[in-house]
Amino acid sequence: MELQVHTKDRTYPIIIERNALSKAKEYIGTDRVFLISDDGVPEKWRESLKAQFPDAVMHVIPQGEGSKCFAVYQDVLAHMLELHLSRKDTVVALGGGVVGDLAGFCAATYMRGIRYVNIPSTMLSMVDSSIGGKTAIDFQGIKNCVGAFWQPSLVIVDPEVLSTLSPRLLHEGMAEAVKMGMTHDPKLFELFEQDNYMDHLDEIIERSLKVKQGVVERDEREGGERKLLNFGHTYGHAYESYHELNRYLHGECVAMGMMTVVQEPELKARLKNVLERLELPLECECDKEEICRLVQNDKKADHGTVTIVQVNELGHGFTEEWDNAMVRKGIGL
Ligand SMILES: NC(=O)c1ccc[n+]([C@@H]2O[C@H](COP(=O)([O-])OP(=O)(O)OC[C@H]3O[C@@H](n4cnc5c(N)ncnc54)[C@H](O)[C@@H]3O)[C@@H](O)[C@H]2O)c1
Ligand SMILES: [Zn+2]
Repeated sequence: MELQVHTKDRTYPIIIERNALSKAKEYIGTDRVFLISDDGVPEKWRESLKAQFPDAVMHVIPQGEGSKCFAVYQDVLAHMLELHLSRKDTVVALGGGVVGDLAGFCAATYMRGIRYVNIPSTMLSMVDSSIGGKTAIDFQGIKNCVGAFWQPSLVIVDPEVLSTLSPRLLHEGMAEAVKMGMTHDPKLFELFEQDNYMDHLDEIIERSLKVKQGVVERDEREGGERKLLNFGHTYGHAYESYHELNRYLHGECVAMGMMTVVQEPELKARLKNVLERLELPLECECDKEEICRLVQNDKKADHGTVTIVQVNELGHGFTEEWDNAMVRKGIGL
């Protein structure tokens, strides 16, 4: 299956196909590539890509968020320069959101921008971070604080690659798909309510990508509708920064964040049921006062209120402004 994403800068395809990784070269259509991956991406996937480009170099960064930093960014750029990469060359990222964000930012800034192909290899990156054009590294403890909007010229999604992902990482990525079902696509949400949602993995990915594609096309730079994809993220980010020791993964915090804001009883029960099936946490162990402070410091807080994405009816996300009392009430204070 192929989706076309239309953005201001370019139109690009997303290929969604089992075993597409083994045909990546056909889709990419050039030999002049610089491959980037991380050492947590199983070797068999890295080898599958590398074997198709015998003359290309693969730059392998250490796995983990820590690689989204200036030092690694600089290493990659230095390597690209050393190889005399030009604007005719293509950066190809194989990995999760960390590799995608870093490689995308390198592509966006090297020689004022070169072609970039993303091959996401985690559930989260397949359904969420691989499209939309946001690229970034972290700086001075602030996530994604140095970055650029840079659209890929091609995204290759091969669901087969998920076979090596741990259940925990698979499920946390699915939290983002549940989110998109909640805000935009009831059928996507209902797939998770079926007995064996894993039989619908490809459809889950396709539907999530369609939601994200539609939102990105309508609102490339997050002026309006794209904010709806922050559903679960306002409290989610607070839970994430509260537990600095990475006790919870991002998608797990989004799951708890969704549970915190949804009020409508029937919908909340359905959401709870789906998150339980995915073995995602429902409630965060934390100091609630501190969470309120963090929520109000969130970058979406403005004029003393916080913009919260809410869902009362499946598939219809909307934003509302919560004042201090509502932020406290949301978390049960
Ligand atoms: N650009 C965006 O729009 C956007 C959106 C959401 C998140 N993000 C970013 O994405 C990052 C998180 O991405 P992530 O959740 O994919 O994490 P990740 O990239 O850190 O990957 C998680 C782990 O899985 C390993 N891995 C990757 N593919 C694998 C596979 N097929 N089998 C087994 N292991 C595999 C990785 O080596 C890593 O250790 C964060 O930095 C976040 O800021 C960006
Ligand atoms: Zn998210």
